[in-house]
Amino acid sequence: MPYDFNNPPDRRQSDSLKWQRYAGHDILPMWVADMDFAASPVILEALQQRIAHGVLGYPQHSSSLREAVVEGIARDHDWRIEPDWIVWLPGVVQGFNLACRLAGETGDGVLSFPPIYPPMLHAPENHRRRLIRSHLIRAGGRWEYDWAGLDALLPATDIRLLLLCNPHNPVGRVWSREELTRLAWHAEHHDWLICSDDIHCGLVIDPAHRYIPIAALDEAIAQRTITLMAPSKTWNIPGLGCAFAIIPNASLRRQYLAAGRGLIPEVNVLGLAAAEAAYRHGSPWREALLPYLHANAQHIHRSINALPGLSCTPVESTYLAWIDCRELGKNNPCEFFEAHGVGLSDGRAFGMEGFVRLNFGCSRALLDEALQRISHAVRTEQAV
Ligand SMILES: Cc1ncc(COP(=O)(O)O)c(C=O)c1O
Repeated sequence: MPYDFNNPPDRRQSDSLKWQRYAGHDILPMWVADMDFAASPVILEALQQRIAHGVLGYPQHSSSLREAVVEGIARDHDWRIEPDWIVWLPGVVQGFNLACRLAGETGDGVLSFPPIYPPMLHAPENHRRRLIRSHLIRAGGRWEYDWAGLDALLPATDIRLLLLCNPHNPVGRVWSREELTRLAWHAEHHDWLICSDDIHCGLVIDPAHRYIPIAALDEAIAQRTITLMAPSKTWNIPGLGCAFAIIPNASLRRQYLAAGRGLIPEVNVLGLAAAEAAYRHGSPWREALLPYLHANAQHIHRSINALPGLSCTPVESTYLAWIDCRELGKNNPCEFFEAHGVGLSDGRAFGMEGFVRLNFGCSRALLDEALQRISHAVRTEQAV
């Protein structure tokens, strides 16, 4: 293998948020969404070259960077965007917070689909909007929208913004054309703005699925949509703080920029340099990473579903597995597994009880160790 995902750098003594949480304890950190792998050599080289120049003043977003993003999105996702549609952001979280800020008025509704990335549950109230929850449901072997539930809650709400996550963290779905079309129909029919957090779009690990940006469905939907992307998850550079919004509608783009004026800082020089290298030269690394992650995901699926009290659905995208512990009979499964040496994310933060999220963006050996500890914990519990 040209990239050695089996032997990632040791992060225990580093400044890693993920690893420092359990420093000094025998608990494997499988929580926050960053991977243990070193960035692609082409990204590290671009950063070294940028630093070697020596001057780290305010950067200008180059047209070459915009072109790299436009070409990368056409190449990887078959979506043609214009360079002018791109608005640079220091993070995707700021991106959807800004969308909440400009959608409607104080007290208006923002529709979101728990379980979901926790900051998406908090963003509406940050801007005095009301969070309207439509919980995803587990139907057979996968997570889906609750269409009947959505229809039932709409008449009593005043929704101005649809906050979408595609692919969806934590359930790992890549929303299909049919599902997106149905959501888009609602957005048109009820005149909602759409903000789609597509940060995980480069991480479709199951080749049977294809990511479709909701804005690519048709021109009318594109005109009401803010799509958020970043190189950070795909190329494992979240510490560099570089993201962008794609906003085809010029008037919406102006409003979006105005909503952030004076609040949103510029992206730093290193984030921009890394982003250009990622979109221009990062494909070989990404193409090697995806099957590695997919093999990890399949291993989790087999192991977890073989355990009493636990289950999970196949992960289509992301490096995150959403594990159903409702049959385990534990009030706090996250605490339970932590006590057995595995640090997971607590499902309650995502808006759903009885679940944990496992980050498998790590070596197979570390994943094996975590799965063994989980298995030991569950079997010991059964024996009691
Ligand atoms: C769906 C989603 N959006 C946004 C983020 C964070 O984005 P950023 O670090 O660019 O703010 C994450 C990180 O895990 C995420 O999963």
